[in-house]
Amino acid sequence: MSNNSDLFSKCYRYEDAKKLQAMGLYPYFRKITASTGNNVITNGKRQVMIGSNNYLGLSHDPRVMEAAKDAIDKYGTGCTGSRFLNGNLDLHEELEARLAKFVGMEAALCFSTGFFVNQGTIAALVGRSDVIYSDRENHASIVEGTQVALGDTIRFKHNDIADLERVLKNSREKYDGALIVADGVFSMSGDILNLPPIIELAKKYNCKLYVDDAHSLGVLGTHGQGTGHHFGMQNDVDLVMGTFSKSFATTGGFIAGKADVVHYIKHKARPFMFSAAMSPASTATALKALDIMETETQHIENLRKNSAYMSKNLKQLGFNTLNSNTPIIPLLVGDDATAFAIAQYLVEEGVFVTPVVRPAVPEGCALLRTSYMASHTQEDLDYALEHLEKAGKKFGVLGVPENTERLNKIAFDNFGVHATL
Ligand SMILES: Cc1ncc(COP(=O)(O)O)c(C=O)c1O
Repeated sequence: MSNNSDLFSKCYRYEDAKKLQAMGLYPYFRKITASTGNNVITNGKRQVMIGSNNYLGLSHDPRVMEAAKDAIDKYGTGCTGSRFLNGNLDLHEELEARLAKFVGMEAALCFSTGFFVNQGTIAALVGRSDVIYSDRENHASIVEGTQVALGDTIRFKHNDIADLERVLKNSREKYDGALIVADGVFSMSGDILNLPPIIELAKKYNCKLYVDDAHSLGVLGTHGQGTGHHFGMQNDVDLVMGTFSKSFATTGGFIAGKADVVHYIKHKARPFMFSAAMSPASTATALKALDIMETETQHIENLRKNSAYMSKNLKQLGFNTLNSNTPIIPLLVGDDATAFAIAQYLVEEGVFVTPVVRPAVPEGCALLRTSYMASHTQEDLDYALEHLEKAGKKFGVLGVPENTERLNKIAFDNFGVHATL
């Protein structure tokens, strides 16, 4: 008997997105027709952008834009091949040397996306007899890396040291090498990895430690050098991953660590070897952004000031912001339908914000993910606050005591968050 079926049948049956489109609530692929960084135009209307990862606001810094244009003039628009073959620029190597120094490692290697860094590095390092210990809230690209790697993966509860020790105790001796991997700043809940006890466990159980600093670079540490620097423990992290798609205002990513380890990854990570090199414009953008991070602290100071202002005011309004203590400030709204409806309302009111629903968060834990930038003006922030308050009230997230209680319970049960108000 044959089980033959049409491979595409699942596509014909897939209705989720179409239903949202029919209701006018589809929140994805909003067409941006112009941008100043802080503000964008979609559907002919202006919105304050509080849904981007442009933490330092450098995507529209004239010096950064000029550097990208100069690189196009000198090298053209693309490298048209792998770094291995015809695509290796002096700019790539300059950026790698500068990044290694910035994060305090011996060497760094740039890939054409951050996703590839996680996928390629984890798969290159973790062999059949090795194991990965991965935080449950890690980014999808880490999950992808763990799935491609030949070794086993054991997940532990989000930022939960007791749970990590429990799984280490139960399993570590069955494996050869081991890698603990976690985001430095978690991309949805905006909390910071509890690094010091993880370092202790990594030493105690002979594991290497890999920190994904995608949302920490430009955000944590005096100049934005990342999570290790934030805790003054950068020498105890074995591998630092970074992406250029956030504070560095372009695309691409890197891995940094000991020179021999980076050399190995350079010759074994398939997404590095078999994909075209970062473009000249992106590489020059990242270099100029790095110059600015190293020499100007006003951007990170503004970012901290703006994030603290929004965090304080959003909490005062009564939003549940989970354990966020970074520029990523989630607003817990509960069910997916409410998240879609609020996001649509806000976009129409001039605030660009993105809903986060399952499977990115557990069922019933939908969020609005808001995030702030160094370049936001007081006027931008107050405009966003005014409309977030209106939306919160209109959709019953604010001002309804039983809903507040229900959301606090969801936050406690799913994220271990104690109500702060
Ligand atoms: C935590 C984390 N790691 C890795 C990535 C992947 O980075 P990129 O956008 O450069 O592919 C992202 C981006 O969404 C991220 O949030």
